[in-house]
This record gives sequence, C-alpha cells and structure tokens, in this order.
Amino acid sequence: MNHKVAFSFADGKTLFFPVQPNEILLDAALRNGINIPLDCREGVCGTCQGRCESGDYSQDYVDEEALSSQDLQQRKMLTCQTRVKSDAAFYFDFASSLCNASGPEQLSGTVTEVRQISASTAILYLDLGAARPLDFLPGQYARLLIPGTASKRSYSFANRPGARNQLQFLIRLLPDGVMSNYIRERCKAGDEIVLEAPLGAFYLRHVTKPLILVAGGTGLSALLGMLDELAERGCGQPVHLYYGVRDAADLCERARIEAYAERIPGFRYTAVVSDPSAQWTGKRGYIAEHFDASELRDAPVDMYVCGPPPMVESIKSWLQTQALDGVHLYYEKFTESNI
Ligand code: FES
Repeated sequence: MNHKVAFSFADGKTLFFPVQPNEILLDAALRNGINIPLDCREGVCGTCQGRCESGDYSQDYVDEEALSSQDLQQRKMLTCQTRVKSDAAFYFDFASSLCNASGPEQLSGTVTEVRQISASTAILYLDLGAARPLDFLPGQYARLLIPGTASKRSYSFANRPGARNQLQFLIRLLPDGVMSNYIRERCKAGDEIVLEAPLGAFYLRHVTKPLILVAGGTGLSALLGMLDELAERGCGQPVHLYYGVRDAADLCERARIEAYAERIPGFRYTAVVSDPSAQWTGKRGYIAEHFDASELRDAPVDMYVCGPPPMVESIKSWLQTQALDGVHLYYEKFTESNI
C-alpha cells in the first residue's frame, strides 16, 4: 500500500503525494512534479536535505559531509537516500517555488451546518464531497472566500483530515465583520463556499515528548484539529491544553475538550479567563501565570501556541525570562480582521 507523504516549505505551502513501498522519496517527489533541488543524488552533497517532522523512514547512505550525527538525531534527512516506512511529513527550509511546485488547491464546499457555540464564536461545517479527500496536516488553515463578497478570511481546520471530507472551522464573531455578518445574517445549509487549502506551517509534528497546547480565543480551532489527531492515532505522551478567553461566556467546545480525557491518556485541560465576572470560580488572568512550572521544568516538552499576536508574544517572552531551554515552541499568530 502506498504511503501518503507531505512536503511543507518555508513559504507555508504543503504538497501531498503518494510514495510506493520501498521507493526512494526523491523519485516519488519528481514523479509527482515536485522538483526538489538536487545535485549528486548519492547522499554526498546535502543539497536535497530536509527534516522529517513525523513518520518512520530509513536512509540508504548519508555521507558525514552531508549530515552530521547531530543532524541525524534531529531527523534531518536526504531526499535522495530516504525510504518512508509509514505516512510521513517532511519540512524543507526553502520556498516551494524553488521546486516549481503548484500551490494549494482551490476547492468548493457545501455548508452543512452553522451554529453559534459561545458568546463570540460560531462553528461552520463544510462538506467537500466524496470525490477526493482534502489532504492537510492537523493545525493548518484554509482561506475562505466569503459568499456574496470579494473578501477572503483565513481559518484553521478544527478537525483532522478524514475520508468523510467534512471540515470544521471556529469563527470569531465580531460586532461588524464581513465573515461575521455573513455567518449571522445569511449563512445557511446548502451555501457553496470556495476555499484555498492547505496553508500554514503550524502543524502537529512527530510526538516524542510531552505536549503543552496553548489556545487563545478561536486559536482553539487549530488545536482541536491536533487533539482529534492525537485521539485517533494515539501519542503515548501526556498532553495539557490551556485555553484562554476574555470572558467565561466565550469558552466553547467544552464538552468536546473534556471528552479528550477519555480518548487521550494523560490529557489535562486548564481554562483561564482574563476578564471574568464575579461568578467565575476558575483560573483568572493570563495563561502564562497558570503554567504548571513542574511540567515545564521537567522538560523537554513541545509547546504549540495559537492565538492573537499579543498573547503569543507574551508567552514567548515569558518563556525567555524563565530560561526554559527544554521547551520547543511552535506557534501561529492569527491577526483577526476587524472588518
Ligand atoms: S542530491 Fe546530493 S545528497 Fe541528495
């Protein structure tokens, strides 16, 4: 059976293609029109190097001039020498245009449901039809063309990819925004929405360490996609989700989050409300004030943060002041359009 492989690039584009059992990865990439830069094709020059982000693989020959033992420990690999043993994802530190590769797909989906799920959030369900499942990595996003307008907005997938080809997106409802107004006033089952996907370099990597997931507002969407993946595939590591909102009424998908405790052994969840009413009895303030220090000091851990820029920046600077060198940070800042 073929393996499904993803190549993601420094410009945020991701390309998917099938690889035959025992096939050299470079051969499969070239066959699928992805012209990875190369020179020797013998594992010596290092030109075709990338890094394996998830999945199992082996390499035939790696010259020490091409990759050091430290590089190999960091899962760097040579495309011309690699054979994948499972579905896998690789990252290349250059733009996809260097490979003459085409960009994300343009697709059309049908709205199957739209529902308000907190004071400030709606969930939108799209069905892409059965023709061919959309490939994406849990945590990536799509750019949606808002029906009846020329405006596009980006939203993270709130689910993992699957054969049913159903997509979910959390949408922040603004008092007066193009997407918000469409969702509140016109959106209904049967609407067609054009989208461009997959996009983004924020996605779940190979899990070898405890995970700390940090969501601000509708940044939860990308992390729900990752949690669905962890629940489905298993991860063998503890997972702690921190979810911060301004008011308790903004919290959404709480039953779904709590249900991960049944599906992911070692799952914990902490909600933090920055500006709560007197009735809120949970954690107050900012997420970094409530990090479990023992969890972080028992590093190494992988931390995934998705939220508005000020929240991501505050967590980055908090990590720096704490000198937590064992925390590997992946983050996505989403800038919410105010119109
Ligand atoms: S092309 Fe030279 S190492 Fe792969």
